[in-house]
Amino acid sequence: MTEDFNPELLPQEFVKLYGGSVEDVQVYAGPARINIIGEHIDYNGGKVFPAAIDKYIYVAVRKRQDSKIIYNDLKFPGTYTFDITDDFKFAKENDYANYLNGILSIIKRRGYKFECGFEVLIVSNIPPAGGISSSSALECGFAYAVSELFNFGISRKDIALIGQQSEHEFMNVKCGIMDQYIIATAKVNTAELLDCAKVEHDFVPLELGDYRFVVMNSKKKRQLADSKYNERRSQCEAGLAEIKAAALPLTGTSITNTKDLPDLCSLTVEQFDSVKSVIKDEVILKRVRHCVTENQRVLEAVEALKKSDLKKLGDLLRASHKSLKEDYEVTGLELDTLSDTANAQDGCIGARMTGAGFGGCAIALVHKDKVESFIDSVQKKYTEVVGHDAGFFACSTSDGVFRLK
Ligand code: GLA
Repeated sequence: MTEDFNPELLPQEFVKLYGGSVEDVQVYAGPARINIIGEHIDYNGGKVFPAAIDKYIYVAVRKRQDSKIIYNDLKFPGTYTFDITDDFKFAKENDYANYLNGILSIIKRRGYKFECGFEVLIVSNIPPAGGISSSSALECGFAYAVSELFNFGISRKDIALIGQQSEHEFMNVKCGIMDQYIIATAKVNTAELLDCAKVEHDFVPLELGDYRFVVMNSKKKRQLADSKYNERRSQCEAGLAEIKAAALPLTGTSITNTKDLPDLCSLTVEQFDSVKSVIKDEVILKRVRHCVTENQRVLEAVEALKKSDLKKLGDLLRASHKSLKEDYEVTGLELDTLSDTANAQDGCIGARMTGAGFGGCAIALVHKDKVESFIDSVQKKYTEVVGHDAGFFACSTSDGVFRLK
């Protein structure tokens, strides 16, 4: 029922479940995202280039007379009941409700007062744990719904920061700001060049001519993804600490000594080459190299897009995947098969994994007339190599979190 569920019908489902009238039900949407390029550098002060896409999590809400909070999801069985006065804590058995409780705990901590409880009904067409940020779509869609329902007027940037804080403190995933930020602030027909050090963005028109982004879902369960993600983050911190401790002179930017580096992505590729010998551990060296070169690729990709040089953009997508495979080591058989097979197809000018990796999704830039044959061929090869099928869809851009009704 969920893949093609019409969200206009969500208020009816809501009153079937909770009673009352559809008039009082408000519906909000949180989009999924792709990251075009700039992977694993948002938490290294880098620049990233994501876009929100037309897959959504819909959150219907209505205030209650009492202080209860009730969550239901059309897809996942079970009702979760809490109280707005609860001291929310992560509990494994609370499943998706943890994302919602995490958001509430941060909103309350920021001093917003709830005068009553509320009911929630969720439905989503975003593949869960698929690497296109279903969890951030839920967090930000829900935070926005609550903010609007209670007239808190929380800014879009703060919606993103609340989502990230909840991931860090409640879910124990030390994510960067990219996913929540794009989901909260996106504009249709654009991607955002997001400066993660300043937490500021520029919109860049996403003009792809006859090409479309196709999302390819590996359907690989992302086992231990959170711990591997946090491990990558620590490795980057170790690399930065080593470079800073060496206190080497730098030329070419306003930072003249490595001890003053705020983050890895403040190093240019040339500067990295001049200081890399201080990093003793081969693995840490590879992680740092990925960050520095990926940041450079993002800047080149945005320039290429502005000049409508899609071939160059495609080359950069491929180079990004290679770096994520060899230096950052977050791809694996599934994502490599998707990306390599996609890159070999007629009509595809570039493909790479998107998001955290370790499973999840890849994206490919494909000519609109070749999308169908592209999907058939990649599916065939993927199934042969991996032993199960992948999911595919061509996507369009979307606005960030919005009210549907
Ligand atoms: C996940 C995180 C983001 C980002 C990507 C990798 O999606 O939530 O902050 O680090 O991985 O680029």
